[in-house]
Amino acid sequence: MSSSRPRYMLLLLCTHVQKTIASPGRGILAMDESNATCGKRLDSIGLENTEANRQAFRTLLVSVPGLGNHISGAILFEETLYQSTVDGKKIVDILVEQGIVPGIKVDKGLVPLTGSNDESWCQGLDGLASREAAYYQQGARFAKWRTVVSIPNGPSELAVKEAAWGLARYAAISQDNGLVPIVEPEILLDGEHGIERTFEVAQKVWAETFYQMAQNNVMFEGILLKPSMVTPGAECKDRATPEQVADYTLKLLSRRVPPAVPGIMFLSGGQSEVEATLNLNAMNQGPNPWHVSFSYARALQNTCLKTWGGRPENVKAAQEALLLRAKANSLAQLGKYTSDGEAAEAKEGMFVKNYSY
Ligand SMILES: *[C@@H]1O[C@H](CO)[C@@H](O)[C@H](O)[C@H]1NC(C)=O
Repeated sequence: MSSSRPRYMLLLLCTHVQKTIASPGRGILAMDESNATCGKRLDSIGLENTEANRQAFRTLLVSVPGLGNHISGAILFEETLYQSTVDGKKIVDILVEQGIVPGIKVDKGLVPLTGSNDESWCQGLDGLASREAAYYQQGARFAKWRTVVSIPNGPSELAVKEAAWGLARYAAISQDNGLVPIVEPEILLDGEHGIERTFEVAQKVWAETFYQMAQNNVMFEGILLKPSMVTPGAECKDRATPEQVADYTLKLLSRRVPPAVPGIMFLSGGQSEVEATLNLNAMNQGPNPWHVSFSYARALQNTCLKTWGGRPENVKAAQEALLLRAKANSLAQLGKYTSDGEAAEAKEGMFVKNYSY
């Protein structure tokens, strides 16, 4: 049992990790696709889902020269936490050399929520403490738990409560094991609803999540959030400008998130690479009580993956593509990004109905 760790020690530990992750001009590279999801990405470029191909792609990502100037943390899938590069160096060691904090996805994925309107809940609390202790030994310093809430399917009171409770238990257990928890209740983009409806649901979800975290004695100074931006549903005809997205999202955060929380690391959902960057930039046009940054997967990796195409001769160009996105989001974190000169490809939407990690 590790539950005797003094709270002040936890706070010190967490504060150090967060200061690194939430440092100016930097954000998180989410590269924690499960074996199955990584397989879908590889399939899109005609590669087989083998351990060797996953290793090749992850090696490419973590060894981009200078990545640490823009990326402060990388979320890994369990396989990668224990994986080496194609040259036999530990991936965790490469990240640390780059000044990037290694993190770990600890949830066990989504399953149907019995008794709900076709909604889901997130598994993974059983055995979490011992798994996390092992991840810490392996070099992980923060954790991620992603659950989802669907607007077209409700969300039901039950689904919202379950999502919040799971996140709160996970956050408490993570802090007790020395890992900074990233709290991620993703509000799915699916649906025809307008931005007002997303705003309303997000307020409910965050109220419940903070209530349950307080009930579970989670230290708010020792967490990071990974929220969805407040946008219209993917099939809504009224689109929103980056300024509108920023207005709604910052209004949501200021109503629901205490200033004790050090960092907000947005997910990109199905946004295009450029959209995700423009929206983040719009949110950093004025001072915020928290570090407002990114934790993107596809919005950082998409062009990189396509450029690579599984060919060794394209590795350098693919790495440059990743660095370009990392730099753009770094500027957006500082509120200094413009989309002039962005490739058309980076502006393409990536929304796929019911995508999963
Ligand atoms: C992912 O693949 C690795 C290697 O093939 C395997 O050891 C591991 O159990 C897999 N993980 C999951 C969750 O499927």
